[in-house]
Amino acid sequence: MIQFEVDKIRQDFPILDQQIRGKPLVYLDNAATCQKPKAVIDAISHMYSHDYANVHRGVHALSERSTAAFEAVRHKVKNFINAASDKEIIFVRGTTEAINLVAQTFGKANISAGDEILITAMEHHSNIVPWQILCEQTGAVLKVAPINQRGELLYEEFVGLLSEKTKLVSVVHMSNALGTINPVKQIIEAAHARNIPVMLDGAQAVPHMPVDVQDLDCDFYAFSGHKLYAPSGIGVLYGKQALLEAMPPYHGGGDMIRKVTFEETEYNVLPYKFEAGTPNIADVIGLGAALDYLSEIGMENVAAYEHELLVYATEKAKKIPGLKIIGDAEHKGAILSFTLESVHPHDIGTMLDHVGIAVRAGHHCAMPVMDFFQVPATARASFAMYNTKQEIDALMEAIEELVKVFA
Ligand SMILES: Cc1ncc(COP(=O)(O)O)c(C=O)c1O
Repeated sequence: MIQFEVDKIRQDFPILDQQIRGKPLVYLDNAATCQKPKAVIDAISHMYSHDYANVHRGVHALSERSTAAFEAVRHKVKNFINAASDKEIIFVRGTTEAINLVAQTFGKANISAGDEILITAMEHHSNIVPWQILCEQTGAVLKVAPINQRGELLYEEFVGLLSEKTKLVSVVHMSNALGTINPVKQIIEAAHARNIPVMLDGAQAVPHMPVDVQDLDCDFYAFSGHKLYAPSGIGVLYGKQALLEAMPPYHGGGDMIRKVTFEETEYNVLPYKFEAGTPNIADVIGLGAALDYLSEIGMENVAAYEHELLVYATEKAKKIPGLKIIGDAEHKGAILSFTLESVHPHDIGTMLDHVGIAVRAGHHCAMPVMDFFQVPATARASFAMYNTKQEIDALMEAIEELVKVFA
């Protein structure tokens, strides 16, 4: 085990210190959403207790403080993902909203009947449905690159689907249902060689590994705060400045305008052009606190520690009779999706809850992935930097017990 002070980290998360049905809580549903450190909770409380007012509009002291704090977080996000400019950071509600934004702005402006949008067979519904809606609106066609039985993208087949008709590639960086980490740099190079822009769904990647959008050279990148130790209701769309400049706005309203008359409206500059209405001010502050917290720990350390957890859990899981791991890609984040021969995934979830262990059971908003593996659902343990080997032991013991009872 690398030097990683998990005990110290756990103390920063007040919610973890509780019992569920007489057993210590083991929270392994981090891919759905993860828990918040005290620093984040306190930052929100501090904002509302001291500095809160609407941003960008007021001339009074609180509005100035609130605006400065809000814009400082934009700069932190820019640094965290190494964007080129604060203008490339658009605050949205989350990954879902970011992808819909790109579909309805970039998509509507650049994609028309007969054009193709290329995704993969392992996408979350958030990276399928917005493109289906766009296809319905425009007559474009959604193409899907296949995966193999390990849950890996068939890269050659993906490249084979790129053509002069392809107007956008949108791919998940790390799959929430399988844990697969896609070769996104290669994907981007292949698409760019044909002048095709690439959007990445980073909902699962940003919380678990260092992400550098300039190094990746992606055109759009989306992620959610709530999976990143930050509050729910806040997320980020990164876009290359030139693309964002050329795109029409998404929502119309306050803040996204420079001048309004009944005859015409002049839109605001970036990033405000895409931020209509009063934003989620306090949760942006919470996001800033989460980024500070993570930067202190270091995303390389988070990734290395979680990899150790994944390896430990996978080795143990493989020894359990009747347990099938769904998704064992060579490059994989700390997600263990599995089925048991004799127990339905929903029953696994309910029974683990009886011993204080929170996992997710279901289709994980990736129904096509379930169809591909011909399972109705999976149970999914997804790890975060505050999880421990002892918690994995507790999970595996509980699963072994289940297997015995249902044998
Ligand atoms: C890979 C992936 N993409 C997109 C989403 C959607 O994120 P949100 O619900 O925060 O918008 C999720 C959430 O589970 C996800 O795991």
